[in-house]
Amino acid sequence: MEIQWSDSLATGVDKIDNQHKEIFARISSLINLDIENMEFEKREVELHKVLRFLGGYVIDHFKTEEEFMTRYHYPNYDDHKKEHMEFLKSYSALVRMFEKDGATDLIVTATQNQAVDWLVKHIKDTDQKMAYYLKPKMQKT
Ligand SMILES: [Fe+2]
Ligand SMILES: [Fe+2]
Repeated sequence: MEIQWSDSLATGVDKIDNQHKEIFARISSLINLDIENMEFEKREVELHKVLRFLGGYVIDHFKTEEEFMTRYHYPNYDDHKKEHMEFLKSYSALVRMFEKDGATDLIVTATQNQAVDWLVKHIKDTDQKMAYYLKPKMQKT
């Protein structure tokens, strides 16, 4: 699985883009570890790292976006926030699965899909729309 930053993912809001880049960098280095072919114990450790990262940095990142949206009265705040909440719901399900069964193939694949597919889609669609609204407002202040 590949995950690479490209300009097509840029929102034009520096703080948000920098956080997205950091998320991509961290996730791609973890994906490049080839977790699927690792010894089980090492897999547990690596998967635990990914989950901790998603549960920490990504949640802070959502807060950054939500603060911007509130500050500049973004009209689609509720829908955007709902997507973040859905990510957090699937994330908690992954954590529960991991705590119960450990680093099984199923959870490795599910985590990669969750991290990669969801984020790319969310950035390209939802975050870019938000940034389009935010940018002119931010320049005025
Ligand atoms: Fe977002
Ligand atoms: Fe984002």
